[in-house]
Amino acid sequence: MLRLAVRAPAKINLSLDVVGRRADGYHLLSTVMQSLELTDLVTVGLNPANAGICLTCNRRNLPLDNRNTAWKAARLFLDAIGVTDGVAINLTKNIPAAAGLAGGSADAAAVLYALDRLYPDRITRDALFTLAARVGADVPFCLHGGTVLCEGIGELLTPLPSFAGIPVLLCKPDFGLSTPWVFSHLDLKHLGRRPDQPAVLESLRQADLAALASVTANVLESVSLPAYPVLQILKSELAAAGASLTLMSGSGPTVFGLFSDAAACEAARKRLASRVPAGTLVLSTRTSASGPGIVT
Ligand code: C5P
Repeated sequence: MLRLAVRAPAKINLSLDVVGRRADGYHLLSTVMQSLELTDLVTVGLNPANAGICLTCNRRNLPLDNRNTAWKAARLFLDAIGVTDGVAINLTKNIPAAAGLAGGSADAAAVLYALDRLYPDRITRDALFTLAARVGADVPFCLHGGTVLCEGIGELLTPLPSFAGIPVLLCKPDFGLSTPWVFSHLDLKHLGRRPDQPAVLESLRQADLAALASVTANVLESVSLPAYPVLQILKSELAAAGASLTLMSGSGPTVFGLFSDAAACEAARKRLASRVPAGTLVLSTRTSASGPGIVT
């Protein structure tokens, strides 16, 4: 059986603004997405003898049928190129689910990346990114990876200079948040603090964390922070532990801190381990310049 193993990086949002709303309810965004070294491992194998998509996963509680983004991505790709081969997908999940870290989108992007290599030259790069957008708003970014300004509903990508190698501490409380719930509670007239996107882009170009901290924001915090006060506590703990910048990622609930060096990040990880509420996941990683890639 032809088989590929692919790394599927998580993401954080270094800034997130909502600039409008489409007739279909989707929100128009201006957000800088950033890949992380934290990855899932996705293996994709072709089985021409058996039709159908067979999905397996090391984590229970995830749907293994057409509700899973990895399954949807495979279905869309196979239909687009008109083959009826069977596909076996295995997900080794390290990225927390419903966390604002694009775990499901990363897996879907990795499936598209793998199938595009297993069936070479069957689909253009543009068509592949169009399929990605049909799976979910974050999937085009996950297919691209690195540091990218994402606009539209997330599918219009402008790659930015690399912001790789910055130490990141992730704090994921012991509950998940549904993206539709967060967006549906957003009041476009009361977004709170908004990012100054041109200044965000300039601070990223300079890799200046202090400047980034003074100009960035995530407007979805206006929904999640009042509803879940523990998120503000986690942000304050990260700041007190030395983070140069703290923000919620995407629609949350994960909050993250960026650190000027690895030693400061490690010291903060140790300090937070004994101070955060029970069940909070504290993960240390770094920003990455890479999207999906083959594991050799
Ligand atoms: O595209 P995806 O399935 O990731 O989005 C999940 C939900 O999040 C959408 O159904 C929508 O309610 C909300 N969303 C939004 N605007 C975006 C992205 C997502 O309103 N740009």
